[in-house]
Amino acid sequence: MLTRCLQRTRWHVTDNMVEAATRWIAQAGVQAIRERGRFDLVLAGGKTPRAIYEKMTGVDADWPNWHIWFGDERCLPADDEERNSRMACQAWLDGSAIPAGQIHVIHAESGAEAAAEDYLRQLQGIGRFDLVLLGLGEDGHTASLFPGLMSADETADVIAVGQAPKPPTDRVSMSARRLSDTATVLFMVSGKNKRAAVQSWQNGTAIPAAYICPESGVDVLIAPECLKKSQIQL
Ligand code: 6PG
Repeated sequence: MLTRCLQRTRWHVTDNMVEAATRWIAQAGVQAIRERGRFDLVLAGGKTPRAIYEKMTGVDADWPNWHIWFGDERCLPADDEERNSRMACQAWLDGSAIPAGQIHVIHAESGAEAAAEDYLRQLQGIGRFDLVLLGLGEDGHTASLFPGLMSADETADVIAVGQAPKPPTDRVSMSARRLSDTATVLFMVSGKNKRAAVQSWQNGTAIPAAYICPESGVDVLIAPECLKKSQIQL
């Protein structure tokens, strides 16, 4: 399975991640709304997306048809600086014309188990996403799917995660299977501390990111500092 996924992974080196990702997201929105009248977008957490979300505030889109989901969340109070939803709301969503009822946060402040059950309920009746945004951690994790803690055979759509190596330990994550149930996936990878993880991924190592495998394959926007010099062709 991993070889099949790797063959469908397209690497796009960019020295302007913000511009490239913003354009990608906006374009995916236009296409989804044209094809089926709505756009189901799953957001990534972490630091890389903040500037991209900020840039989204300048995009002219059919916002009333956008539906926002979160790939993972950290079990912290709702207004904690480290919450993925807080970051996305501050950077973009709060000031947007996306109807509040279409911004589906993971209520991780209630604890991982309860929040995972609640998110499963929120996702009921929602089919294939249109675009899933993801980041890559230094150890190869994506969303809150960590090496040694995820199972490739996971059948649940949403998972309560304990003992995560990246703080906080308690988290909620969509599973690799649910994150792969999408028309398209876009990874946004930056920072030279990601080099080893990128190499492992490209070598076919079973890192969590490699298990995200929709039919259409995966696109990776990658900053030059994450690659060896010989791999960089802008
Ligand atoms: C989180 C994540 C996580 C993140 C990566 C990359 O909540 O921690 O969703 O998977 O996307 O760790 O994070 P950076 O962009 O900060 O490197």
